[in-house]
Amino acid sequence: MLVQGTDTAALEQEAHRLYGLLGSVSRNQDVKWTYADCLQAAPYTLRINQVKKEKNAVILAHSYTVPELVYGVADFSGDSYALSRKAEETSADTIIFAGVWFMAETAKILNPSKQVIIPAGRAGCTLADGITEEEVRALKAAHPGVPVLCYVNSTAGVKAESDICVTSGNVFDIAAKLPQKELIFVPDLLMAQNLEIELSRRGAPKKIIASGASCCVHDKYTPDDVASLRRKHPGIKVLAHPECRPDVCAAADYVGSTKGMQDYVAASPDKLFGLLTEFGLVNRLEAEYRDKTFIWPFGVCAYMKKNTLINTLQALVNPRPEQIVQLSDEVISRARKSLQNMFEMTK
Ligand code: 13P
Ligand code: SF4
Repeated sequence: MLVQGTDTAALEQEAHRLYGLLGSVSRNQDVKWTYADCLQAAPYTLRINQVKKEKNAVILAHSYTVPELVYGVADFSGDSYALSRKAEETSADTIIFAGVWFMAETAKILNPSKQVIIPAGRAGCTLADGITEEEVRALKAAHPGVPVLCYVNSTAGVKAESDICVTSGNVFDIAAKLPQKELIFVPDLLMAQNLEIELSRRGAPKKIIASGASCCVHDKYTPDDVASLRRKHPGIKVLAHPECRPDVCAAADYVGSTKGMQDYVAASPDKLFGLLTEFGLVNRLEAEYRDKTFIWPFGVCAYMKKNTLINTLQALVNPRPEQIVQLSDEVISRARKSLQNMFEMTK
């Protein structure tokens, strides 16, 4: 039994804490978190926070995971870049990474002496699963001397084959800084198109040789979704992730990473935003900017949502083998170079 009886006063106190954090957050399109929802979550958050201390573990949660993890138990939450830096610098013995598999792998690459556990197990990502290291090797053989940029949404093996890793927050700047006029970019085909357009806009055009797939959440948005937001909500500011189609990005007011969108909302005097991104980010903005209104058409990452309070507690107490990240020393050392090259280029 993972959660034993806790006294009613402690549960009510925890439910009040959670409700203070989650009361403005949507559970779905129409319903907000209630005090009763928080009372249901309370036995788990109390126990997770207790075991976390006993085991000297740190919990990192991507902004797309469920808000009861982000606000109830995470020590840090954020985008993939910020979480990779937290993973690198932590002194905890164990990293519980609430996210998808490639993110937990990245934590292991950057801090290999730690035990890295992902509650969701081998939760995939249509981008990371969209190209293999053999395919990257074939691209390199076909284009000798052309640098390989890999989006962080890639497996450790693909990172090991790449020269520089990038995230949605730094891809445009890093690609612009490189002297070469031709770059290989994997595995996001839509981001590759956005990259080529952005480099031309900056007056530094480059040929992007792309291979891979697209994000099954962000590739669903169309320019009609932008038009519909503008028609129904005059004056709305529309924000899109660079994993969206180029015609969607062109129609949006701002294109950026999850952190970029948070910063845009924080700095903007506007009050009404349309979000073409995953629901978890919508929840974060609802929790943190209560004087602003967020309209979200659709878009849920089923992989991220595989992390729950229940499997986080189970993974902390007694992780299953498929929840523990294991990588060879050789892959770790080669993949780390591509991540360190990114850190160098974002200084
Ligand atoms: P960020 O790099 O903005 O955290 O995005 C990760 C991701 O999976 C987007 O779909
Ligand atoms: Fe991968 Fe898309 Fe999910 Fe992000 S939202 S983890 S890119 S499938």
